[in-house]
Amino acid sequence: MSKMCGIIGYVGNKNANEIILKGIKRLEYRGYDSVGVAFVKDGKIIIKKDVGRIDEVHKKLNFLEPESNIGLAHTRWATHGSVTKGNAHPHLDCNEKIAIVHNGIIENYQEIKEFLKKRGHEFKSQTDSEVIAHLIEEFSRRVDFENACKKAFSMLQGSFAVLVINKDEEKIIGIRKDSPLVIGINENESFAASDIYALLPFTRNLIFLHNYDFVVLEKGKVRIENLIEGKVEREVERIDINVEETDKKDFHHYMIKEILEEADVFERALNQDELKVKKFIEEIKKAKKIFLVAAGTSYHACLAGSYLLAKAGIFTRPIIASEFNNFLNAIDEDTLIIAVSQSGETADVLEAIRKAKERKAKIFSIVNVYGSSLTRESDEFLLINAGFEISVAATKTYIAELAIFLLLHSKLTNKKINKEEIKAKILDLLSRSRREHIEKVAELLKDKQHVFLIGRGLEYVTALEAALKIKEISYIHAEAFPGGEIKHGTIALIEKDTPCIVFVGEEKEKILSNTEELKARGGFIIGVSEQNERIFDIWIKVPQDGEASLIYQIIPMQLLAYRLAVLRGFDPDKPRNLAKSVTVL
Ligand code: AGP
Ligand code: GLU
Repeated sequence: MSKMCGIIGYVGNKNANEIILKGIKRLEYRGYDSVGVAFVKDGKIIIKKDVGRIDEVHKKLNFLEPESNIGLAHTRWATHGSVTKGNAHPHLDCNEKIAIVHNGIIENYQEIKEFLKKRGHEFKSQTDSEVIAHLIEEFSRRVDFENACKKAFSMLQGSFAVLVINKDEEKIIGIRKDSPLVIGINENESFAASDIYALLPFTRNLIFLHNYDFVVLEKGKVRIENLIEGKVEREVERIDINVEETDKKDFHHYMIKEILEEADVFERALNQDELKVKKFIEEIKKAKKIFLVAAGTSYHACLAGSYLLAKAGIFTRPIIASEFNNFLNAIDEDTLIIAVSQSGETADVLEAIRKAKERKAKIFSIVNVYGSSLTRESDEFLLINAGFEISVAATKTYIAELAIFLLLHSKLTNKKINKEEIKAKILDLLSRSRREHIEKVAELLKDKQHVFLIGRGLEYVTALEAALKIKEISYIHAEAFPGGEIKHGTIALIEKDTPCIVFVGEEKEKILSNTEELKARGGFIIGVSEQNERIFDIWIKVPQDGEASLIYQIIPMQLLAYRLAVLRGFDPDKPRNLAKSVTVL
């Protein structure tokens, strides 16, 4: 399975190096094991690339020289070929006339490589991507550059967002299929990047490419055609998202900055267009079957959503997106798919909804990133308005996704959401004194190898999400169980001082008796609850407030995961082996 990377290109009358360096840094959260740039200068292509983070490699190689006004950059998350300088992008053809950067996987690269080797092409890397440069070179022997690119792209299978430069042409050629690519355009300059976050500091005039869109960028001029549909008109959208909010400012990490935004994010997520919410509710009431489809943290939001909708009398089946294939025969025109994805680019989710659409199901989505593939491929969508989430760990977007499900639950049960009260409680949970208490808990857990978490109902969902946060950024093995399930086997894991985090909610008596079972085997009990209990070794106080407990109980856990990562010397924003979104299967 692979993740994603970031690609960016610029052609215009300004200094391409500065723009590309700033832009690629804004894409680093998408994947960061190596980085490279390519510039056209005096009829030559200059490549600078190496393993490591952008700042390190730039310090070593200086991406700002030689000054150019056309260039590409790539921050890699390796899928084919290990993390080496030679496998870093950009990749060149044999004559160093063409340079390419690629996000995705070329599934048929071996056969293309064999085809090209027979024609004398020599490869310098083990990557799948490098075949693209040599394929364009091969076709350039017979047709012009643009047509050579078209022919080469048409041979590719898999997922690809590709940008190409040619030392003799002042243009950038691009294509997207299943990996995202957004175009920006100003007078005398054009841009392309994997997502809008990289482009917004330079332009707000954006074009969201569709699959098989072939684009030619020149200074302030963009030509788009679709390799399948032919001539197409793509709208230039004016995006007025506030960019300032996305800088780290004086926070040590994006993750803590984003967690501290959660009270405002909760409010923004609830601010929805009444008509669109009404459409969701009508569709939910009408559908004969409802599947909630997502991955990772967004799947936990779906799990919470399934409990909330069940409380409103609506049965739904939450499904992990990569498992969706096993349910296709149950999908038909009376089925509603609610897909949840903060990035809107998760390949497993996109693949699931495409298969569901083939079976005439309706697709309603809950998404954070405007213009993402999921927003464009859904029948209806609600934006969670969480703002850019840069840290790989989903925190504020989880709160926002929960808010949407709480809103749907509220509309179905006519139970009002007391927004101001919830916001106030979130702010209290994020206060300094609360954070200092969490730091003490983190000190106790930082050298542990295993942490177990239990909850019942909504608190079981919280336990799952808390476990994921702890695992993915502190690398401590954390596992969540339904409280009532531990006696069916997993309690065998509990030894003296095994840390057990217990989430107390509405089924208080039952979860406390499950806690007794853990305590009796030596468990070290960390209670997350409204009241302290004799059985707790440590108490983390949270409000008990029905469905809103989903919001309250996860916040101290997000802070705990963050502190554990920092205490253990890891970068919570860029955990090992991960990247922000999984745009290929
Ligand atoms: C969550 O902390 C992880 N970064 C990951 O599980 C993430 O939630 C998952 O990849 C889904 O991403 P999406 O919401 O963008 O679809
Ligand atoms: N598959 C290509 C490689 O491994 C691109 C990976 C990415 O999207 O970063 O180099």
